[in-house]
Amino acid sequence: MHVLWNDQLLPRHEVHIDLEDRAYQFGDGVYEVIRVYGGQLFLLNPHLDRLVRSARAIRLDLPWSLPQLAHRLQELVAANRLVDGAVYLQVSRGVAPRAHAFPRAIQPVLVAYPLPASRPTEAQERGVRATFVEDIRWLRCDIKSLNLLPNVLAKEAAVERGAQEAILHRGETVTEGSASNVFIVQGRVLRTHPANHLILDGITRRFVLDLAAREGISTVEAPFTREELLSADEAFFTSTMQEIVPIVEVDGRPIGAGVPGPVTRRLQQAFHAAVQAVTQQQV
Ligand code: PDD
Repeated sequence: MHVLWNDQLLPRHEVHIDLEDRAYQFGDGVYEVIRVYGGQLFLLNPHLDRLVRSARAIRLDLPWSLPQLAHRLQELVAANRLVDGAVYLQVSRGVAPRAHAFPRAIQPVLVAYPLPASRPTEAQERGVRATFVEDIRWLRCDIKSLNLLPNVLAKEAAVERGAQEAILHRGETVTEGSASNVFIVQGRVLRTHPANHLILDGITRRFVLDLAAREGISTVEAPFTREELLSADEAFFTSTMQEIVPIVEVDGRPIGAGVPGPVTRRLQQAFHAAVQAVTQQQV
């Protein structure tokens, strides 16, 4: 495996991550997961824009320009001959003796490497079971920070309950999944939590909202309750790795007919067509 380490593309064993990298002690950094289809980085620019927003929000200055970063990531994909999968990219504030406040004259540390993965076609076809977990995260969930402990605990709770994903809620309000956004379909309307400080504004979320608009499906970005989710006609998760995955059951209660619904199917088809367009460009 080849890894991008700051400005160098190196075999994994030649990369040296320092013990005092603040990512370890503080989770002091930000990250992105960018999908690769047919050797192409999918929706790269929105991901890089979000990386910049996240970095700015934690007052971390990125020393690389966006075109530079895009070029390096393309080199990383090529060096690894990655066709289908994703690139994981993180930037930490840097290396310094442990102290909470920002150290002076610190250089950020960038690491990016490939995650080989295929599309979760079975989950997309059949849908998945989900479970409610209280959202105990901080109030800046819009920042894609390395601090993922509440997300890890929520996902683990889901796995232990035989569910694929946790649906987080603050009181009665559904926010998002542990590593995904949540949509419901009510009649002819597609609804998802607004992109504020309580959720991550998913790149897939935004892409699906745009697809829906193009398909003539009405969309509304407004919070909904657990009860509204349980009585919705359809529900699904979106994320870079999962794309669009129908939610067919939550804590033993079926959503709609208990099988993926027609609006979800239409959006999945539109998504697949967009992916096909990207992979065919490559050929
Ligand atoms: N997670 N919400 C949370 C909390 C997430 O961690 C993610 C993505 C999303 C969906 O965002 P996007 O569509 O940009 O992937 C929403 C990534 C994939 C992860 O941590 O693996």
